[in-house]
Parts: sequence; structure tokens; C-alpha cells
Amino acid sequence: MTDAAHAPQLPQVIAIDGPTASGKGTIAQRVAAVLGWHYLDSGALYRIVGLLALREAVSLDDGLALSQLAGQIEPVFQGERILLGGEDIALAIRAEQVGTAASRVAVHPPLRAVLVELQRRFRRSPGLVADGRDMGTVIFPDADLKVFLTASAASRAQRRYKQLIEKGFSAKLTDLLRDLEERDARDSARAVAPLKPAEGALVLDSTHLSIEQTVEAVLEAYRRRDPR
Ligand code: DC
Repeated sequence: MTDAAHAPQLPQVIAIDGPTASGKGTIAQRVAAVLGWHYLDSGALYRIVGLLALREAVSLDDGLALSQLAGQIEPVFQGERILLGGEDIALAIRAEQVGTAASRVAVHPPLRAVLVELQRRFRRSPGLVADGRDMGTVIFPDADLKVFLTASAASRAQRRYKQLIEKGFSAKLTDLLRDLEERDARDSARAVAPLKPAEGALVLDSTHLSIEQTVEAVLEAYRRRDPR
């Protein structure tokens, strides 16, 4: 027998990547709930660094200082709550300016490197559904299923608008559409871990799909995958 046959199997992973407001978070959480798996919102980690940078007036262009900030965070995910040093920052990190700051801090390679191990620690039994930009390409390249979830820019702007209003933030649809297109361009054009479908990813356009239909399409692809 080969060594590989003796290697302990790592818990399974479903990686769901895609542009901002494509519904990744909702879909990933529902898929995790159906399977009884853990869930990682990797964007929350970049948002936390963005929030701290804004609060502590650290330049969004200073990759080294930002990676030091990232090295200190120990967020605790508890259902809807995200605790950082005892403070629940779950709502604060959803503000649109924090999302834009997250996209700006995310271009720095040293900062991304600091977050790699933190993200991989979420891989626990019985499995993990992880959403972000580089889950299938960089963080979990051996994922059991890779999904690239997208939707038209107009429908993503609508969804983000609804989300922000529901959370009590003020928002303007035209501003959101512009921000979202800028964010897509920055996330896709960066040199390290750009937003793009992983090799072998199922590309799912949810513009005309309901949440239930999208969840079902992911679960169906998981059931039909080639088992390891
Ligand atoms: O998914 P989100 O909107 O919460 O992510 C906020 C920003 O964080 C996104 O614009 C780019 C960055 N990000 C990233 O670079 N890599 C990830 N895996 C997740 C998010």
C-alpha cells in the first residue's frame, strides 16, 4: 500500500466563491445547515481587518501594518454573532464602507498570507462549507466540490440594497451598483488570489434562481461528485 492510502483523510470541504452580493453567504450557510457541517465566511475576516484599519486609522495601502493587524485577530463565530475581544462586530462589518475597505486590504499578499492558516483551521469534522473569493483556488484547492456563484450586477446590487436596508443601513441603488462594479474589478484584477472560477468549478448563475433552487443545485452537484 502507498503512503497516501495511510494518510488520514481531511474533513470534506465545499468551496463557494463568487463576486460580492452573489448570495454566497446565504447559500453556503443553508448548504452547511442541510449537511450539518461547519461554515466559514472568509469575507468576514477581511472585513474585520478593514474595520480595524478604519478604526485605528491604519492606511489601507500599508500592507505590512495591515498584516500585523490581521495577525492579532482572534474572532469567535457564534451563530449570528462575531465576537472580537468581547465586542460583537457582526453588524459593524456589514457597513458598505467596511466592505470597500475589506476589498482594498485584500490586495496585499502579506495580509492574505497571515489569514491562510486561520481559514484552514475551520476545516473540522464532519465537513466545512466555505465562502469567499479564493476558497477553491488557494485555501482549499483539494475541496470536494467547488462552486463559482454569480449573478448579474443589477440583481446583485438589488440584493445588497435589500440586505443593507434590512440591517438598518441607508443605501442608494445607483451608488451600490457603482461600488459593486469597482469591487468586482479590484477583486478580479489583483495579482494574488484573484476572483476567478477554480478549475473544475461548477459555475452557477443565480440571476433567475431562487435561494432554494440554488441550494438544491449545489447539493445535487455534491451528491453527483466523484467521491475521493
Ligand atoms: O464576501 P465579502 O463581500 O464579505 O468580502 C469582502 C471583501 O473581502 C471582498 O471584496 C474581497 C475580500 N475577500 C477576499 O479577498 N478573499 C476572500 N476569500 C473573501 C473576501
